[in-house]
Amino acid sequence: METKLSHPDYNYTVVRQFTIMTVVWGIVGMAVGVLIAAQLVWPALNFDLPWTSFGRLRPLHTNAVIFAFGGSALIGSSFYVVQRTCQAPLISNSLAAFVFWGWQLVIVLAAITLPLGWTSSKEYAELEWPIDILITIVWVAYALVFFGTIMKRRTHHIYVANWFYGAFIITIAVLHIVNSLAVPVTLGKSYSVYAGAVDAMIQWWYGHNAVGFFLTAGFLGMMYYFVPKQAERPVYSYRLSIVHFWALVSVYIWAGPHHLHYTALPDWAQSLGMVMSLILLAPSWGGMINGIMTLSGAWHKLRTDPILRFLIVSLSFYGMSTFEGPMMSIKTVNSLSHYTDWTIGHVHSGALGWVAMISIGMVYHLVPVLFEKAKMYSIPAIGLHFWLSTIGTVLYIASMWVNGIVQGLMWRAYNSDGSLTYSFAESVLASHPGYVVRFLGGLMFLCGMIIMAWNVWMTIRKEQSIATAEVAEATA
Ligand code: HEM
Ligand code: HEM
Repeated sequence: METKLSHPDYNYTVVRQFTIMTVVWGIVGMAVGVLIAAQLVWPALNFDLPWTSFGRLRPLHTNAVIFAFGGSALIGSSFYVVQRTCQAPLISNSLAAFVFWGWQLVIVLAAITLPLGWTSSKEYAELEWPIDILITIVWVAYALVFFGTIMKRRTHHIYVANWFYGAFIITIAVLHIVNSLAVPVTLGKSYSVYAGAVDAMIQWWYGHNAVGFFLTAGFLGMMYYFVPKQAERPVYSYRLSIVHFWALVSVYIWAGPHHLHYTALPDWAQSLGMVMSLILLAPSWGGMINGIMTLSGAWHKLRTDPILRFLIVSLSFYGMSTFEGPMMSIKTVNSLSHYTDWTIGHVHSGALGWVAMISIGMVYHLVPVLFEKAKMYSIPAIGLHFWLSTIGTVLYIASMWVNGIVQGLMWRAYNSDGSLTYSFAESVLASHPGYVVRFLGGLMFLCGMIIMAWNVWMTIRKEQSIATAEVAEATA
């Protein structure tokens, strides 16, 4: 039976710790997201203080949701998956504990330094050099534990989920080290070793592959383990998983220049980025189709299993955002979408719809297993959470599409004498209703997360363990 701890040596302590922190950081990061969304509706919420201003809280939000929430979900689930699929315990429990506490320390340092305004000014790589060094050390320890466990595996082959987790670990290490190279001036300030267009190119090579490997490859690893497990079906096509793995990792790495259309970057590099982004649609959809088709013959489970619903709907949002992304990379489309809320909508269809929803499904699957309970405390509460998340995400992205298109069209409208038809302030006014809707959508998503925290807490506290549930079942 899956819910039993099948091997006494497996290190589930570190998985439990990361899983709990996924819930905690999810709530913190999204609460900051809701706050900055509210600031865009009611600017008074900046409180006229530098530490609480939108400019400082925005990177706090992105770091908290990507690295604290997403990172905890990825590292925790990878430690679980690698043990289960290799049928081997982690190679070192103390190194695994170091990874957990080291990563939490990075997050706490980020939460202190970002509101203080310590920043390298590179998006998604804002943390200053001492924290960058700490990240590198923790990441190397993570790689040692993960790959060391794979080396010690008792199975013949390496399950595909580990391929994706492995690609995520290696690529993020390379991206982080190359993009963070800087000359320190003081403890809290450094300057990048790159300058001008080269700096921009390195930054977006990093930035896009942070999307490709942190927010995509790692979560595909999660998908390849938890979707088949929850559906109790084998992966639809193992061959497709290998083909789309190689296609995805070899194409993603070239797509970064689509963030730099119409800039000082050479035109050929921009066009290359656009073409690679268009090609990227194929492997992305290969992964989505493989995940969704895993449900072949088990579609009826969606009616009764809200955890499976989270996992499958996350794949639908993955498919949607990886269709939208290539479209936005077309230069003429990007000339409208860039700088507007359309980008923000695209980001969150990936971030809320894909990344957060698959992580939530993973948490609901794992908590009963890790804490030796028969199932989650309340299944209807998971159903409620599912609808809050889905409706919240749809409200978020639909309002940002409307805002994005309105802004793009207003900014490019000219009068016959060549002057602008609208002032910038007029476009801000037109965006106001969209910001209110986005705030409400985000608030719904956050409420769902709080319900999850309650449900997880009640499940852990619940008296009934697997053993008592089995006795009850047998005597019923
Ligand atoms: C309750 C949920 C959330 C709310 C209300 C929210 C809100 C926001 C807001 C207001 C912004 C700033 C937009 C702007 O500058 O105009 C933002 C940016 C961002 N958020 Fe969220 N967010 C949420 C969840 C998430 C999650 C779960 C992730 C990732 C896993 C995420 C990733 C990002 C990223 C990457 C950006 C920067 C986008 C860019 O620079 O283009 N957010 N978010
Ligand atoms: C085939 C896949 C994808 C392609 C080709 C793609 C393409 C794009 C393009 C063209 C932009 C706008 C760049 C700009 O105008 O500055 C963008 C922004 C972004 N995308 Fe995607 N996207 C893809 C999938 C995803 C997914 C799945 C996620 C999240 C999980 C995501 C997260 C982001 C983020 C965070 C940004 C904003 C970056 C910034 O300016 O701060 N993308 N993407």
